[in-house]
Amino acid sequence: MARPIMTIADLRQLAKRRVPRMFYDYCDSGSWTESTYRQNESDFVPIKLRQRVAVDMRDRTLETTMVGQKVSMPLALAPTGLTGMQFADGEILAARAAAKAGVPFTLSTMSICSIEDVAEHSPEPFWFQLYVMRDRDFVARLIARAKAAGCSALVLTLDLQVLGQRHKDIVNGLSTPPRMTIPNMINLATKPLWCMNMLRTKRRGFGNIAGHVAGVEDMRSLSTWTAQQFDPALSWDDIKWIRDLWGGKLILKGILDPEDADMAARSGADALIVSNHGGRQLDGALSSISALPPVVETVGDRMEVFMDGGIRSGQDVIKALALGAKGVFIGRAFLYGLGADGERGVTAALEIIRKELDITMALCGLRDIKQVDRRIIARQS
Ligand SMILES: Cc1cc2nc3c(=O)[nH]c(=O)nc-3n(C[C@H](O)[C@H](O)[C@H](O)COP(=O)(O)O)c2cc1C
Repeated sequence: MARPIMTIADLRQLAKRRVPRMFYDYCDSGSWTESTYRQNESDFVPIKLRQRVAVDMRDRTLETTMVGQKVSMPLALAPTGLTGMQFADGEILAARAAAKAGVPFTLSTMSICSIEDVAEHSPEPFWFQLYVMRDRDFVARLIARAKAAGCSALVLTLDLQVLGQRHKDIVNGLSTPPRMTIPNMINLATKPLWCMNMLRTKRRGFGNIAGHVAGVEDMRSLSTWTAQQFDPALSWDDIKWIRDLWGGKLILKGILDPEDADMAARSGADALIVSNHGGRQLDGALSSISALPPVVETVGDRMEVFMDGGIRSGQDVIKALALGAKGVFIGRAFLYGLGADGERGVTAALEIIRKELDITMALCGLRDIKQVDRRIIARQS
């Protein structure tokens, strides 16, 4: 009998079997030596929780708010590019699973399904993640499209002005749609379910970009396109321009350093995400969980501080909350679910984390997630 799905690691194994190598590797990789990617996960391990007993653990709640919006637990789906290549129509499926679970979904600029398409097929408003391109008219149009689609927060990513090199993507010749080389065809032949679903959908290019930027229909090479289009001159003045143009809730993503956090607070943004892009950009940077406390200390009383990177369980979530995060984002944890089993897999990922978070909170002697703070961290001699 097959092992039941109990953990995010179980979903990861299943995704590895079902998703074509090129796209599985795109998800499960970091830049250069991948040291920051690995430490994002491993730096959670030495943080220990205080076990408490004989306290009333009935009537527990995980409900709280993120940038003023009610959430069923303090967690959102992180923006991830090419999500519709992990599973056909992936962004729509993930947005639906998030809506059903009562948590925000963030759509990447580099998504396969477009803003309008996701808005049409998702029952709840979602958040939109913006990359700043050199073409400011295109940026302004993206913001206007997100507004028109009813997106309820803008997540502005600041840590990808230039692209960190990911070796696996070069080896695999990452592109969308995949090139029909002999190794790719041999690998695709072993993923019949993925191929069948992909043949049924029309959504195979970059939905937000193809047809909206002259000359871009598909991306032969993601890294070449990024180098041409993403703006290496992005500055805090541009961030103010975007804030004014958007006019709604603004979350700055990719802050690791307290000095940048201070600039973020001064920029008038509502929140920031302590993030190293899941270890995909500056290899050798601090893990997100170790970068979190100094950022909270610097700006925690001026804006909401979220974090992402390495969250694979409810125990990880509660540790991030204990160190001052008001909420977390998950990237790979939901992508593994999506690759494993589409919408059902994302729901499974969210339910695994929800259950772990709830039971962990109870075993720490708390009933309300809003009570979690440093007191639940065990001192070690
Ligand atoms: C496959 C993949 C694609 C990503 N694409 C984007 C993106 O388009 N925009 C963005 O701001 N961050 C992107 N990220 C970073 C995530 O938003 C998030 O910071 C990261 O995944 C968190 O780490 P975790 O995967 O360990 O949870 C991507 C991450 C992955 C794994």
